[in-house]
Amino acid sequence: MNTAITTVLTYHNRTKHRLERYAKGPESIDWEDQPDQFRRFSGCELLTLPKPGAELAVLFSALDQPETIAEQPLTLANMGLLLELAFGLSAWKQFGPSRWALRCNPSSGNLHPTEAYLISTGHEALKAGVYHYVSHDHTLEQRCQFSDNAPESSLVIGLSSVHWREAWKYGERAFRYCQHDLGHAIGALRYAAVTLGWSIELIAETSDDDIAQLLGLNRTADFKALEGESPDLLCRIKVGLDNTDFDMKSLIEASQAGVWSGKADSLRAYHLYKWPVIDDVSLAASKPSTKEPLCQALSVPPLAIACTQTATSIIRQRRSAQQFDGKMALMPQADFYRILSAVMPTAPAFQAWCWPAKVHLFIFVHRVEGLESGVYALLRNNEAIDKLKAGTLDEFLWQRVVEDLPLYLLYRGDCRQFAKTVSCHQPIASDSAFSLGMVAEFSETMAEAAWLYRRLFWETGLIGQVLYLEAEAAGYRGTGIGCYFDDSVHELLGFKDEQFQSLYHFTIGKPLEDKRIETLPAYEHLDIL
Ligand SMILES: Cc1cc2nc3c(=O)[nH]c(=O)nc-3n(C[C@H](O)[C@H](O)[C@H](O)COP(=O)(O)O)c2cc1C
Repeated sequence: MNTAITTVLTYHNRTKHRLERYAKGPESIDWEDQPDQFRRFSGCELLTLPKPGAELAVLFSALDQPETIAEQPLTLANMGLLLELAFGLSAWKQFGPSRWALRCNPSSGNLHPTEAYLISTGHEALKAGVYHYVSHDHTLEQRCQFSDNAPESSLVIGLSSVHWREAWKYGERAFRYCQHDLGHAIGALRYAAVTLGWSIELIAETSDDDIAQLLGLNRTADFKALEGESPDLLCRIKVGLDNTDFDMKSLIEASQAGVWSGKADSLRAYHLYKWPVIDDVSLAASKPSTKEPLCQALSVPPLAIACTQTATSIIRQRRSAQQFDGKMALMPQADFYRILSAVMPTAPAFQAWCWPAKVHLFIFVHRVEGLESGVYALLRNNEAIDKLKAGTLDEFLWQRVVEDLPLYLLYRGDCRQFAKTVSCHQPIASDSAFSLGMVAEFSETMAEAAWLYRRLFWETGLIGQVLYLEAEAAGYRGTGIGCYFDDSVHELLGFKDEQFQSLYHFTIGKPLEDKRIETLPAYEHLDIL
């Protein structure tokens, strides 16, 4: 096994939360010292995007058939709407003197390590160059201006992570959370694009070094020490029948020959604790240039949906539940099955995910109409069934539940206490309709390449984003669960080695609102500026 893979596997094991001790993190947190959630580059030309908050008539249910959605023109307002619906603010919350922003994309601890860049190859609306999106102000900072003859390749969105933002609170486990957030960001971008009648393509071949060059992340003098950004992913936004090949080489040349400006402002945090294992795993899991499969254009609509709200309203109302009503009426079976069908790899949300599904759901059903409480498995890739049967407890039943979905009943019984305990004792895992663990085909994937560790987490984050929006559309609410006791989950399911590992958890139920917390509009502050 190569050393990069060993480094990543060592990181994975040492950052497991265990019943007897949590993964290594800061011993104390000074909230006054939280790193700035909003990155800004001083010294760039600033472009104010048209007013945020536009509504589109497209129904959330129409996203099941993206080809039926009217294509919006590529204007500056629509580029802004894309960024807003994916990464923009969705509300402010206020409790006493504390005030915090929420965004359309969720983030572990609301720390938001993901940064978004827009690369324009030259449109009437936007000069060719690299722009950084400031969600707080709904502005673009022009980091690089290309010369006029940049290659035509539509719009590209670049994503990166400021690991320190997450590590400040979560210590060593933070690298995992940054990858979850990236998966959520891919999902958020996909929902935003489809609502505009556009689509996304992941530029998965590109190496991290090339992404860093294109986005200017390798310009170390432009970033304060320890506050740099790690390159993650490029996504092409396709508007209409755009079949031009993506020409990364020319884009990089354009960015190298371009005029760069701006320096990242300090995140204003005192780096009291240092987490060198995050730098180590980040380096070990960095991605080289690779050959990747072509995506299939076709997708299968999920089971019927009853939601009559627009996509823009569902996207903007997405929140994490802090608490659930443990006495909720049972969730109708149709809602449960619909939600599960939307996370199948054939569903439209995964159209840009060109790889075989490696993540399966182990579901703890607490309150679903007509379903016995117990443990269920949703296989997202049927080829794994024999391996999963062999790798889990012998006494699991593996009884197929319905024809429409590869859902199996494994164990009958109340698993609320277990779900709560293994989720770091959080009641959100037991007071819900159901909670679940996302179990990855781990050792086989990891034997291929170290960087696939990140892609496994992205897959779970993407599934999480679908669950968040589907929960809202069904009149429920979801919450991602990054805090769980890894090996206690594995033990309960009967995993004896690293063949399967649970990489992310999630829960969906009827939320209880904390009436003391006020909700304020997302962008009212722009009117005052
Ligand atoms: C990867 C990830 C892990 C999370 N883990 C937890 C968790 O363990 N417990 C919890 O209460 N919330 C968890 N959350 C929810 C976040 O705290 C929430 O997304 C954040 O506060 C922003 O709020 P919003 O989702 O309402 O926008 C998680 C979210 C993500 C994306």
